[in-house]
Amino acid sequence: TDLSRIRNFSIVAHIDHGKSTLADRLIQLTGTVAERDMKEQLLDAMDIERERGITIKANTVRIEYPAQDGHTYILNLIDTPGHVDFAYEVSRSMQAVEGSLLVVDATQGVEAQTLANVYQAIDADHEIVPVLNKIDLPAAEPDRVKEQIEDVIGIEAHDAIEISAKTGLGIPDVLEAIVARLPAPTGDRDAPLKAMLVDSYYDPYLGVVVLIRVIDGVIKKGDRVRMMKTGGTYQIDRLGVFRPKMQDIAELGPGEMGFLTASIKQVRDTRVGDTITHEKRQCDTALPGFKPSQPVVFCGLFPVDSNDFEDLRDAIEKLALNDASFSSEMETSAALGFGFRCGFLGLLHLEVIRDRLEREYDIDLITTAPSVIYHVHMKDGTMQELHNPADMPDLTHVDHIEEPRIKATILVPDDYLGDVLKLCQDRRGIQLDLTYAGSRAMVVYDLPLNEVVFDFYDRLKSVTKGYASFDYQMIGYREDFLVKMQILVNDEPVDALSIMVHRDRAEMRGRAMCEKLKELIPRHMFKIPIQAAIGGRVIARETLAALRKDVTAKCYGGDATRKKKLLEKQKAGKKKMRQFGKVEIPQSAFINALKMD
Ligand code: GTP
Repeated sequence: TDLSRIRNFSIVAHIDHGKSTLADRLIQLTGTVAERDMKEQLLDAMDIERERGITIKANTVRIEYPAQDGHTYILNLIDTPGHVDFAYEVSRSMQAVEGSLLVVDATQGVEAQTLANVYQAIDADHEIVPVLNKIDLPAAEPDRVKEQIEDVIGIEAHDAIEISAKTGLGIPDVLEAIVARLPAPTGDRDAPLKAMLVDSYYDPYLGVVVLIRVIDGVIKKGDRVRMMKTGGTYQIDRLGVFRPKMQDIAELGPGEMGFLTASIKQVRDTRVGDTITHEKRQCDTALPGFKPSQPVVFCGLFPVDSNDFEDLRDAIEKLALNDASFSSEMETSAALGFGFRCGFLGLLHLEVIRDRLEREYDIDLITTAPSVIYHVHMKDGTMQELHNPADMPDLTHVDHIEEPRIKATILVPDDYLGDVLKLCQDRRGIQLDLTYAGSRAMVVYDLPLNEVVFDFYDRLKSVTKGYASFDYQMIGYREDFLVKMQILVNDEPVDALSIMVHRDRAEMRGRAMCEKLKELIPRHMFKIPIQAAIGGRVIARETLAALRKDVTAKCYGGDATRKKKLLEKQKAGKKKMRQFGKVEIPQSAFINALKMD
């Protein structure tokens, strides 16, 4: 294919601004799929993504577009995830294309992830075409939003394309703009093969499917290739493009994007950013590559029923096959038995995996308190990475502890600014910046990640009625006065509830957790003390009163079937309980006890 007839691009947008709807329209308008095959959102393959309305894995699709100039162009669209947890995946897929459509909801304007994502596109030297979506809605204010794009992002927006991805209005203009305003790729067909490994995923029938972007040279089915970083060599079984269904193709030349399969066993054998070249005729220099995405949030996952452990292991292995950024290792807990300590890119990633384990694999789970990685500096000068509060070393050997900090950017309508500032302040934030963009304030805070991983998004959403948007990036480690707080139920420590907390916030958190647990744990036949402690010292305490009478007592002499029903109901409820010494704690208590109101 003639390079000048190719355009490679991504769509960047804040969540819900209409990226997937636009992608579907582009595919539909170019007849890439028959109308009847058009599912709601084609690019979001996984059900869970569809339900949550988020796109997790990057996908590519090849569109053939007959332009007004009489030529047919190949447009390769790479779909990128919109959520903050996956910012890293956005940045690497940006490297594979030359341009971006910047989609902004004309009723909402620029949001935190609009900024984060467009900056990534700018960093990757993209040509950017601004697109204002949802202009079918009466609340759309295209002129105001254009101005805002220019003021806040600093790119030209007077020629932004006004569209409705929903009704199809303006879509032909988008296609023309892709051809006219985005640059064609460059590359040398005669040079040795140099292709970028953009992404990979595991398919139960095909094995690992690798998405590639050819820079130089030509790749063909049957070729023997080498991955320059990992050193692995493979023979290509299948080469093709997504339209969006897989379609085999004889070769891919410079500037083209597609997929290959080569009997690769697991996603871990492929390194995103690696350079693929021919085994016989190698290219001189590898692409710079990307650093792998590192998990930043950890938690323990334990089966409620210990008989499910093997099933949990299998399910985790299956999920890990397809997700190199999800890590797991076996963990044993005094109270919870066998389980796994798992690492995630962020809280949403954690929730997605937990949901899939519960729903697709039907395993009831206890999720322990999410934790970040602390740097524990010992008196002997060594440093330990602490992923689990349960592993906190003896304090007499500890010199100081450092915690990860983030730079958080929040965009919020003026009316809610006060509440947002209070929330950030309560979470030990340090204000770095406060500016205005239209009727929105943009606040930048330096916050401890540990105060954000738990319920920060939820709180932010609730104090701003959903009007705030949020994005963050890691900025490094800083020392602070952190302690491990334990929760004791009936005088037994429940390690799954241990958390690392700032000393000044320990009493408040401890009290809140004890109060919550008092509501969450059902009464027993005896009185149950619930305590929070640092070291051996109790800092908060509640007492759950004993049950006065047998619950079935009121049925005595009454209807026997009613009594039986009640007992059955209790038995069913018990499946989701876990025994701690003499006390039964419901599964839901583990997460809910941590929520702060
Ligand atoms: P993520 O996949 O979560 O990043 O979201 P997205 O940016 O892909 O948004 P999506 O395409 O899922 O659209 C979000 C919502 O806006 C959906 O309910 C769409 O139906 C709706 N929507 C998208 N485009 C338009 C439009 O032009 N007009 C109107 N009225 N609604 C739209």
